[in-house]
Amino acid sequence: MRMYDIILKKRGGGELSEEEIRFFVQGYTEGEIPDYQVSALMMAIFFQKMTERETLALTMAMARSGDMLDLSGIHGIKVDKHSTGGVGDKTSLALGPMTAACGIPVAKMSGRGLGHTGGTIDKLESFPGFSTALTTERFIENVNRIGIAIMGQTADLAPADKKLYALRDVTATVDNMSLIASSIMSKKLAAGADAIVLDVKTGSGAFMKSEADARALAEEMVKIGRNAGRRMTAVISDMDQPLGYAIGNALEVKEAIDTLQGRGPKDFVELCLVLGSRMLMAGGKAEQEGEARAMLQKVIADGSALKKLAELVEAQGGDPRAVYDPRQLPQAPIQLPVTADAEGYVHHIDCQEAGVCSLMLGGGRETKNSCIDPAVGLVLHKKAGDSVKAGETLAVIHAAGWEQAEAAGEHFRAACHIEKDPPMSRPFIVDIL
Ligand code: URA
Repeated sequence: MRMYDIILKKRGGGELSEEEIRFFVQGYTEGEIPDYQVSALMMAIFFQKMTERETLALTMAMARSGDMLDLSGIHGIKVDKHSTGGVGDKTSLALGPMTAACGIPVAKMSGRGLGHTGGTIDKLESFPGFSTALTTERFIENVNRIGIAIMGQTADLAPADKKLYALRDVTATVDNMSLIASSIMSKKLAAGADAIVLDVKTGSGAFMKSEADARALAEEMVKIGRNAGRRMTAVISDMDQPLGYAIGNALEVKEAIDTLQGRGPKDFVELCLVLGSRMLMAGGKAEQEGEARAMLQKVIADGSALKKLAELVEAQGGDPRAVYDPRQLPQAPIQLPVTADAEGYVHHIDCQEAGVCSLMLGGGRETKNSCIDPAVGLVLHKKAGDSVKAGETLAVIHAAGWEQAEAAGEHFRAACHIEKDPPMSRPFIVDIL
């Protein structure tokens, strides 16, 4: 088999066979096929697209390019959740303990944040001492012992995707639906869960800005997962403004703790209940949504979800006292309010730019190797649709220095649009597939 023929076939609109796909994925991962040939193939795929059969073959070849996690040592149906990423998205921090407290074994591999979106691992590392560098044995043992473990993605999880994604990033071939769906799903399938609940975001802070694109991506990923024999659900949810009020690692941990104490923001609580109920249904713990929601509300009300978070923190080397007293989490020395210039309604908060504020403060990563400050970020006081008076606080910036605080404050002011009339409301849960 020759790479040249594979490129030519795809360029002419042909359907690649499973063998041809396996050949280039394996050859590229092992360094036998050069970047320039794979770049040409990615561009041919970009224009000619991939069929359902090709997309599944690519996903499976990438998933099998490294370790496939074997979770059979964990009792029960393993249900994973994946979010396509957003701003203020601390869902796993609350949802993991909630579903674990309801009896779902939570064996989660998570990533770090890059750019304006945050990552679960960075957020968890706000707990002093918390480590996500677990061996697979310890990961499985923790899930069997306390019902939950969260580890960082190992280098050997879908290494083909890692290489291909980096190549697509510099060859303008990221935004092809089949390539995105296979990239995400290869990691999810390699991570070993029996059922996967996807949270596909749409809006100004999301990877997929339009609802049509978010829906197409959700449908593509659901198809791949089902073809690979996994139980799949996808929720399409709004990310046109930050989720909840807190943006920044420790600030988001505190908001997740508030949520587990029954004091969470309305949108965030709703998302946890919608995703959580689908996870309980997929995991065989509830038949219907109403029953599942009641179970999730109960573990918040009786404190067992909060206790589960404390167990998780302790099992992974962190200090669980911070769960009951979030003042022990890292705190920024400067808190600067950003106030409204005019009276009216918050029409729109540009979600991506709100994420950029946290990045400017040092709360996110500009490049893969940047260090992050867990204490910094911002806490919104107003969200879209809220009325505001001149001089009222729109958000509070948490910063390490005055200069960064002022720059981020100005950036936020420009991202927060105030108009005379209230905005049209957007549905928060757009659809469930
Ligand atoms: N996220 C991924 O993991 N892969 C893509 O291709 C795009 C977003």
